[in-house]
Amino acid sequence: MSKKITAAITAIGGFVPEFRLTNEILETMVDTKDEWIVSRTGIKERRILKGEGLGTSDMAAPAVLELCRKRGIDPSEIDMLLCATTTPDFVFPATANIITDKIGAKNAFGYDIQAACSGFIYALVTGSKFIESGQYKKVVIVGADKMSSIVDYSDRSTCIIFGDGAGAVLLEPNTEGFGIQDSILRSDGSGRVYLHQKAGGSVKPASHKTVDEKEHFVFQDGQPVFKFAVKGMADVSAEIMERNNLVADDVAWLVPHQANKRIIDATARRMGVGEEKIMMTIQKFGNTTSGTIPLCLWDYEKILKKGDNLILAAFGGGFTWGSIWLKWAY
Ligand code: UT7
Repeated sequence: MSKKITAAITAIGGFVPEFRLTNEILETMVDTKDEWIVSRTGIKERRILKGEGLGTSDMAAPAVLELCRKRGIDPSEIDMLLCATTTPDFVFPATANIITDKIGAKNAFGYDIQAACSGFIYALVTGSKFIESGQYKKVVIVGADKMSSIVDYSDRSTCIIFGDGAGAVLLEPNTEGFGIQDSILRSDGSGRVYLHQKAGGSVKPASHKTVDEKEHFVFQDGQPVFKFAVKGMADVSAEIMERNNLVADDVAWLVPHQANKRIIDATARRMGVGEEKIMMTIQKFGNTTSGTIPLCLWDYEKILKKGDNLILAAFGGGFTWGSIWLKWAY
């Protein structure tokens, strides 16, 4: 009898731009203080992509090329590429198509997935199904956002949070039981009132008025989002442990979306997982939306061990949220 195929991460790549937007620089731009930002969010600095004509794909492409190099494969071997992003290069075509062109992945098809801060989790689960089907052997999942392109740098409640960056993982079939074991994905569209971009879509296309009224930027009503995020992320993280009979000792790492350190700490407390098991990059990269989870994996890759149980968890605009249990494969 043939063994069950699971989708395992076999390589990671990442990219963050060079420019560091520190809390000290933000103090000169809006009425804020380093102490407030650190105590309310955990963020010290974030990276910003500078340069005319550069977009999300310009961070995603080097991230994917890095994972190809590490795995020793040519981009032409990639079968499929999914890009989770809220800041696509263009409304259309998909950023995934642009990335495959830029890296020479000429045998890959791909498309974008829009689930705001849960985008990477949604895309990872989607890609895993293509691997589990047995039809595809090399699927790349990218989480990338140039949040600086939709942030109003005169709005202190949002400009302190977001940063730019990209992370990518390669999924390959595994028959030894490593890789993605279980996942929970949830959404509730009524949450859109608290976190959205008002204009630029089909309801309110761009006009002089929408630009004048700053409607092409992130709008966030922080407190309700915070409340829903704490509950949503903690609920699905606890649920995925319970239904798989995992206890805190079984979990090697919590890999949470990096929106706010207080949300992450609340999730870890609910799981009973100690601080030493939480992947944290928020202090240096801020909230890179779809980029946070793959960038955590990229940053911690060296200390991961084969067989480690990882719980990935995210909450974001939509609302969307979810968790994944995976066994590290290398
Ligand atoms: O990643 C996608 C999902 N997003 C999230 O999960 C984000 C969830 N929300 C949050 O993380 C938090 O709500 C924020 C970090 C956005 C804000 O923190 P908060 O503790 O909820 O602050 P708040 O909005 O309740 O504001 C408290 C006070 C207000 O002043 P008053 O009205 O009490 O006088 C704000 O005007 O803090 C003020 N404030 C600031 N002060 C200094 C807001 N932003 C700033 C700032 N610097 N940057």
